[in-house]
Amino acid sequence: MMERTPFDVVVSDLRMPGMNGVEFLKEVRERYPLSTRIIYSSYADQQVMLGGAGKAHQFLPKPCPTEWLRAALQRTALIHSLLPDPIMRQKVAKMERVVSLPALYLQLVRQIQSVETPIGAIAATVSEDLGMTAQILKIVNSAFFGLSTSSIAEAISHLGLETLKYLVLAVGVFSQFESRKLGGLSLSTLWQHSTRTAHAAKLIAKSEGAAKNQVEDSFAGGLLHDLGKLLLASQYPELYETVGRNAREKNAEWFVEERNIFGFDHAQVGSSLLGLWGLPLTVVEAVAYHHSPAKIGGRSFVPVAAVHAANLLVQTQRLSHGGIPSPQLDRDYLANIGCANALDRWRAELDNAPAI
Ligand SMILES: [Fe+2]
Ligand SMILES: [Fe+2]
Repeated sequence: MMERTPFDVVVSDLRMPGMNGVEFLKEVRERYPLSTRIIYSSYADQQVMLGGAGKAHQFLPKPCPTEWLRAALQRTALIHSLLPDPIMRQKVAKMERVVSLPALYLQLVRQIQSVETPIGAIAATVSEDLGMTAQILKIVNSAFFGLSTSSIAEAISHLGLETLKYLVLAVGVFSQFESRKLGGLSLSTLWQHSTRTAHAAKLIAKSEGAAKNQVEDSFAGGLLHDLGKLLLASQYPELYETVGRNAREKNAEWFVEERNIFGFDHAQVGSSLLGLWGLPLTVVEAVAYHHSPAKIGGRSFVPVAAVHAANLLVQTQRLSHGGIPSPQLDRDYLANIGCANALDRWRAELDNAPAI
């Protein structure tokens, strides 16, 4: 059937007569890499599910609310609108194979979704991964987060589960690029820029009285907004060096030069990967449109506004990723969502906020 018309999304159970779901999705991955692959199975199959990581993009527990499936389809539709050209999607599908969604993040998502899991059990799950625990404690004990603790449970009680979950995701993803050639891009500088943008985006969302999930999505969007740079730089290090050189010579923004060279930019690439991985739609949109928030439209405050402004604020605070010109602020968009004069207030709040 797929030979005639490849499907945009393939949803499969793990247990099927005649074929194992993981094997089936592996086959789909080989033959139709552009299709979004989703495993739909019971929590009892969690271990098999984790073994299936890489074969599937997303996992949906069986049964799950219809909205979850609807959200998965909406994310796929968004990826198609971000990357309308199948050749572009093919390139992203290739990049998707060089980086994987950290298994610990998946476990946390599942534990947080289940209302019965106590915080202690979630802290224990993180603590089993000694490398991740050390990195998370290092981050939360930095002056930036302002904690002094050697306990993951304490870090959770300060930061909240969602913030911890997204830190685990970002640390797990960024660390996969440690020993790769990145075409002149500095991993540590980008990490610093990303955490600062996350901090600023969270603060802006709080300042606007956004709902708790919007505050968390702003943090996640800030943390992951430039992930596409790592994907492009690691996949095409020589070309990416040219991107950086051209941007410096022309005093242009990197995404403009990325478009000149690749035909698409890091916002499209990063958000497409996050969409495939099943992150919340608002996070995917915040990453996709962090340079062009007006494309989302609407007249109310949404996480993309926080990430758009935060990306600018941290760079004008001289905390930028080395020598890149400040991004353009879309003042008309901010006026449309009722934040015409908010930038100076956000800047002042950020200057006065020592830690998250
Ligand atoms: Fe960016
Ligand atoms: Fe940025």
